[in-house]
Amino acid sequence: MSADNSGGESGMVWKSMIALAGGAAISLSGAGHAATAAPFQIPAVLHADQPGPVLSRHLQGQFAEHLGAGVYDGIWVGPDSAIPNTRGIRNDVAAALKAIKVPVVRWPGGCFADIYHWRDGIGAAAKRPVRKNDWWSGLESNAFGTHEYFDFVEQIGAESYVAINMATSTPSEMREWMDYITSSAKDSIADERRANGRQEPWKLGFVGIGNEAWGCGGAQTPEYFANEYRRFATFMHRNGSTFHMHNDNAALRVASGPNNDDVAWMDTVLKSAAPMMDAISLHYYTVFDGKWENRDKAGATGFPADHWNHILYQASRMDGVLRMHEAVMDRHDPQKRIGLYVDEWGTWYAPEAGTEPGFLRQQNTLRDALVTAMTLNIFHAHADRVKMANIAQAVNVLQAMILTDGAKMARTPTYHVFAMYTPFQDATALPLEVSAPMLKSGANSFPAFSASAARGKDGRVHVAVANADADRGYRLSVKLDGIRAGKVSGQVLTAAQTDAHNVPGAAEQVRPVRFDGAKLVGGALVLDIPEKSVVVVALDQN
Ligand code: AHR
Repeated sequence: MSADNSGGESGMVWKSMIALAGGAAISLSGAGHAATAAPFQIPAVLHADQPGPVLSRHLQGQFAEHLGAGVYDGIWVGPDSAIPNTRGIRNDVAAALKAIKVPVVRWPGGCFADIYHWRDGIGAAAKRPVRKNDWWSGLESNAFGTHEYFDFVEQIGAESYVAINMATSTPSEMREWMDYITSSAKDSIADERRANGRQEPWKLGFVGIGNEAWGCGGAQTPEYFANEYRRFATFMHRNGSTFHMHNDNAALRVASGPNNDDVAWMDTVLKSAAPMMDAISLHYYTVFDGKWENRDKAGATGFPADHWNHILYQASRMDGVLRMHEAVMDRHDPQKRIGLYVDEWGTWYAPEAGTEPGFLRQQNTLRDALVTAMTLNIFHAHADRVKMANIAQAVNVLQAMILTDGAKMARTPTYHVFAMYTPFQDATALPLEVSAPMLKSGANSFPAFSASAARGKDGRVHVAVANADADRGYRLSVKLDGIRAGKVSGQVLTAAQTDAHNVPGAAEQVRPVRFDGAKLVGGALVLDIPEKSVVVVALDQN
């Protein structure tokens, strides 16, 4: 195994700091991984006096769908459950999500949103219809509906993001739901809400119009969707939008955007409907070989050695996919008024043995922690356009924060990375010039590590490094421009095994601990980043 960091590109600004092509490729030789080699020396420069865009807190958003145990058992156990709860919502899960300052939760789907009729989920619980969950199998009791969702986001301190049913519903059904949620008038639908126990309107942050309209949302063509979007968006009655003088709807409208690298979708929809949207979504899932049809072919744990790099390479592709869509968006919206919301992202593996395949339950390992940190670093590098992201999903589904098993709960490695990154919420990006050697995934290569830096709302400078190199640590010598740092402290997340993970009810195997590999030497920050690790440090100014 060899590596050469001599040829990496340098001189990047914040925008391209994780696009580190140029170094020679390193191949990964085996699982269990070679003994730790001496760290490579990597020079870097942090420009603390050159603030970039704000890293919206919404980049750390979550997604909770009526799918498997994502809502039922995972979030909702009902008020009569023996599992401690507040009005039916699990106390342990709510507390864990509150602790990572979840800024926004997208709900109720996903594909489920495309078959959801909101009236099924209001009124007396005993009278709510039970329906087949036609997308994900099992039965939908509708016990968790509009009131329960808003109670949940209020309990965890998050904003609301409701995906309306555009595929099997009408603008009038959408309009009534919006009024039910937001009307403060003495109108009948607001009175119905009051009769159901909620006097004041709720604050509605974001409304998704369509979900995967190219797929489970009706297999629409982009031209057809753009027309339908315009029709639905008209009846959203967004404050200040075309036609409307007296609107009371402040929620932002999010159009159903492309899958992966489908720039034709982006182009066609923007050409027709850009003035009527505030944001457009993008869905990008990490599958080991990049092929959607193989999403359930590779395991979350016990994977072959080369799958470490394959998954991390596929995760790194997010950067290129964002660039492609940004180029199209910049043509239609050079002022960058329209946000790009990556409102579904994360790893997708074979379902855990013994579970219902439609429930998409998978374990979550140190590898997922690296995917998380690498992806958040990518979002930071695109923060002038990417204003929201929602990992799929919050609890028990795909790359989850939390796994539950009856009354037991585990915080996953992904959860811990979100916790480590909370100082980046609404922080201001700072340029960090650094280059990395490349790792190999088959014929492809990707940077061995990525990094980002920002000045937090707490005034401190925060630096994050995701080292995807399973075999090698790196010594980053970061010259500090524009800051006189007096103290550095931080955390590291790593483990001996690449598939180390946490199990509900068992002692945590993967969790952040104090990082002793940072020191200030003269005007530089020296970071000894271990192999396969995530490190976040904070600098206090002198
Ligand atoms: O997150 C699981 C599913 O993935 C969502 O329902 C859908 O939008 C996507 O295909």
